[in-house]
Amino acid sequence: MTQDELKQAVARAAIAHVVDGAIIGVGTGSTANFFIDELAKIKDRIAGTVASSEATAARLRGHGIPVLDLNEVESIAVYIDGADEINATGAMIKGGGAALTREKIVASVSKKFVCIADGSKLVETLGKFPLPVEVLPMARNAVMRRLAALGGQPRLRLKDGAPHITDNGGELIDVAGLAITDPVGLERTINQIVGVVAVGLFAQQGADVCLLGTADGVKTLT
Ligand code: A5P
Repeated sequence: MTQDELKQAVARAAIAHVVDGAIIGVGTGSTANFFIDELAKIKDRIAGTVASSEATAARLRGHGIPVLDLNEVESIAVYIDGADEINATGAMIKGGGAALTREKIVASVSKKFVCIADGSKLVETLGKFPLPVEVLPMARNAVMRRLAALGGQPRLRLKDGAPHITDNGGELIDVAGLAITDPVGLERTINQIVGVVAVGLFAQQGADVCLLGTADGVKTLT
């Protein structure tokens, strides 16, 4: 099976976690896009969605799926999203698609996080994938110095030769060279650096369920 077929398989499996009549949080990225295409087939069963990025909102609307403002929503039954890396405890690195801050916000108000990923995303130790950190632009260099002091190699994410600007007007620093043996501790430490908007480490609130696409079928990790 190709990587895309594995992503499609977990996207299909995630439909079993959609709660009828409820509001669904929807992630960002290629796996989440496959999920959106599956969700479109059952759109009449849900009350609406909350999107984790402008790109996701556009894809949902393109399918005729209602997208709600988070400020008008009291509770989200389930949040479904991909990951760049996930470990056996459900801690994840996210943000390769630049949407980590909104993903973290939507996930934080959701009752359940279902991670959908192809098998290559499961790792023993997080950190081979550079850890994304969203920062306010004026704090960029100050935050980069602090991240270097933690032992990583921070690099500003560029797009077409200029800083990549997020949906929130922030910039992204990708930190390579971290072997994250204490994901909860590192998430707390980076959250405390002034100028950081969000870190793409989802450890204090990780995935409740992970649907992992493998050659032997979809495996469920809880
Ligand atoms: C988006 O910002 C990310 O957190 C994605 O969820 C993550 O990068 C996974 O993306 P793919 O599904 O494209 O691998």
